[in-house]
Order: sequence, then C-alpha cells, then structure tokens
Amino acid sequence: MIMGKKKTVYICQSCGYKTPKWAGKCPECGEWGTFVEEFQPEKPSSKRPSISWIDTSSEKPVPITKIEKIQKERFKTGIDEFDKVTGGGIVRGSVSLLSGEPGIGKSTFLLQLSDKMAKYGKILYVTAEESPEQISLRAERLNVKNSNLFIYATGNLEEVKNIVEQMEPSFIIIDSIQTAYLTVIESAAGSVSQVREGTAFLTNLSKSKGITTFIVGHVNKEGNIAGPKVLEHIVDAVYQFEGDRGYNFRILKSLKNRFGSTGEIAVFKMEKMGLKEIKNPSQFFLSHRPIGKPGSVIYCGIEGSRPILLEVQALVTRAAFGTPQRKAKGIDMNRLSIIVAILEKELGYPLRNFDVFVNIAGGVKIEEPGVDLPVAVAIASSYEGKPVKKEIAMFGELGLSGEIRGVKLEEVREKEIERNSFYSIRNSLQKNNNKIKFMKEAVEISLEALYGEYNKGSG
Ligand code: TYD
Ligand code: MG
Repeated sequence: MIMGKKKTVYICQSCGYKTPKWAGKCPECGEWGTFVEEFQPEKPSSKRPSISWIDTSSEKPVPITKIEKIQKERFKTGIDEFDKVTGGGIVRGSVSLLSGEPGIGKSTFLLQLSDKMAKYGKILYVTAEESPEQISLRAERLNVKNSNLFIYATGNLEEVKNIVEQMEPSFIIIDSIQTAYLTVIESAAGSVSQVREGTAFLTNLSKSKGITTFIVGHVNKEGNIAGPKVLEHIVDAVYQFEGDRGYNFRILKSLKNRFGSTGEIAVFKMEKMGLKEIKNPSQFFLSHRPIGKPGSVIYCGIEGSRPILLEVQALVTRAAFGTPQRKAKGIDMNRLSIIVAILEKELGYPLRNFDVFVNIAGGVKIEEPGVDLPVAVAIASSYEGKPVKKEIAMFGELGLSGEIRGVKLEEVREKEIERNSFYSIRNSLQKNNNKIKFMKEAVEISLEALYGEYNKGSG
C-alpha cells in the first residue's frame, strides 16, 4: 500500500458530523467538545451493508405484486419475555445491537442467551473486553456449559472474519463494538469511525453468510449509544438495558426493531445466577412501595403495547434560599416544570418557595404523557403531607388549565389496574358516575384526609 499524506478530519463523537477544522461546538447536534481528530480512510469503505431484505441487486424494478415475501425464520430463545420483545424470536441473519451502561448485565444476558441458542447451531462469542477465563468464570456461575458455544478473545474484526469462515457459526456475539477495531482504519477503537465501520463490516459479514449477530454497545452518560446515530440505522434491531444500579432489576427495551414493534419491554431481575425474567412486572415494581407515606402514587403506564404499574414518588420541601430546586428522575424535566406551574395556578400552592423532586421508582424512564396526573398528585400529596389512598391508581395527561386529557390504551390500563386489585381514579364513582375531568378533583379524591391547610410540606 502506498502511504500518501494522511488526511485527518474532525468527527463529532456524538453525531458523526465531519469537519476539516476543529470546532468547539458541533453545528449539527449542538454538543460541545465532541470533536476528535481521526484519520480519513484512504478510500471510502467500499461496500455499504445491504440493509434491505429484498435483494437490492435486482436488475430492474419489480412490480409490487410480484415481490416474493420471504417468511423469515425465527429462533425462539425460550426466554419468553425476550421472545416477546423481539416480536416472536430472533430473525435468522439479523443484526442486533444490545446497548446499556457498563455493568448493567449485557455480557451476562448474552451468555445466558447463548446457552439457549446453542441448540440451533454453533455460537462464536468474541470477547474484546474480557479474557476467556473471565467469561468461563461467569459461565460457571450461570451454569452455562454448552459445547456449541465457542469463546474467542480478540478485538480484531478481520480476524473474526477469518475465524467465521473456518468455523461457520450460526451466531456471532461481539462484546463489545467499542473495543473492536478494523486494522484498515487508523483511529483508535471506540472512535466514531471504528464503531461505525466495524458495525458495517459485521453487518456485511452477517448478511452475506446468513449469520445471526449480536453486537454489544456501551452507552455514554447521556444514555446514547456511543458513536453516531448511523449505527442504529445499520443494524436491524436495537435493544437497550435500563435500570437503576441501586435496584436489582433490569428493563430490556426495543428501541428499534425491523421485525417487530418498538418500545416493547421485558423485565428481569439480576440474581446470583444471572438474569431471571419477571412475568408480572406490575406486582414486582410495587413490592417495595411505602404504604401510608405521602408522595407516593401508583401510575399505570404503557411500555410498548403492555400496561405496567409503577410507583411515582415526589418530595416537596421548603427551599433554603434562592431559586428552588426541581429535579426529575425518569420523567422529562420540562414536563415537571409545567406540572408544577399548573399546581401553583390551580391549587394555589406556593411552590416557588419549595424544592420539588420527582422519581419513578426502579429507574424506569417514562416517555408518555400519561404520567402527568400521577406526578401532579404525588407532588400534592407530599406538599400536603397526606398519603394517597392505598387502593388508588391513575394515569392521564394534563392540559395547561389542569384538565385531564385522554391517553392511548386507556382500557388496557384500566384492566391492568383492576387485575392488580386497585381502582382507577378516572372511574371513581364519587362524581355521580362521571369521569373525573380535572386534576383538582383527582387530588381531592386521592388524598387520605380532606385538605385545606397549606404549607404542610415539611421544612
Ligand atoms: P455484566 O454482564 O458484566 O455487565 P455488562 O456486560 O453490561 O458490563 O454484569 C455485571 C454485573 O452483574 C456485576 O455487577 C455482577 C452482576 N452479576 C450478578 O449479579 N449475577 C450474576 O449471575 C452475574 C453473572 C453477574
Ligand atoms: Mg460486558
């Protein structure tokens, strides 16, 4: 290879934006301090992965009625909750990204998955982070001992390709993409170029040979998969582990799935012998709930297509000085500000003098508006120092004048609430069989005792 003058380029490690000159702020995604100098590959990577299941090399356009529908073969893993998330099993030849913070359980899960998948064929588990001894110790702990499971320690993806050609596995696991590299790319492992090209390389390998592939990807502190967004476009499915390290349960969410619906979740518990599926997450999430304490509300949310009961917690305390604090964990900060403003206006709470903290128990992240009402009632409960009646559960979006608005899948939620022996506040009979329409009514009905005295918020 003739080594010409190497061209360098600055690449935003957040979104992949390229610029010949260093910049402090990325003009594309607005992040600061994300530009890193990388070598420009000698030639643009030759082959882009074929991301379509239809043969893209067809010579001429095909009438839509003539396209053969290929029923893709799926592998059922036997981990029922995971099979549901994948949409009925992992599709043969698909490439999935498993992301999550370090230490959340990605390697543990994939080892357990390998044990289940080994009945379908050989598995090549490439470890670029841990030694084979470490994997073996983990396997012992998980009681995984399958002769169809092969461990290979390397970060070199060209080497992986050679091994794959010799061994012809049915499955490949790459743990992790941030520690894997292609020697033709000069930047360090973990850089945007390596992560992106490495994923494209593996996708090509997988699609050309019909091998089902799992790639582990760490997420950065903002919760994004390290590396550019394009990574998500290359693969067929993205599954993300979420959960608070302080708790031992883990939520696996499908962020993208070409072969199923997205947003589906499975709940696992991390135990001494690996991850165990939780079949009734609602009961599980409520098991540590403090009964009779102000600031705790049961919320029925929707994750993917399934309802789930969760605990919303709020703590309202008198602010020491200056600007009061607003902290939200598991819900959007902007929503919290709006809810606080609605409470000030509609209930007359002087919350500008109080700190407000809101948390979704268990580290679950809620992205749907149905959490508004439970958050509002939890804040009211903490402020008033009055617990919410223990049999009540709720959901609902709040409008700016405190009206409760409809949300998706209300009937499904009502059923889940009933199934777990709670009653939905929306159907409360207290208002002559009419549905409650305003947040104010919801607060009145939910709290244990009549309210009236303000400034009960401890402080
Ligand atoms: P790991 O799978 O190594 O996380 P990741 O690959 O995402 O970085 O999981 C590490 C954590 O899980 C570690 O803190 C130990 C814990 N663990 C258990 O509690 N039980 C087990 O059976 C195993 C294997 C790990
Ligand atoms: Mg790991």
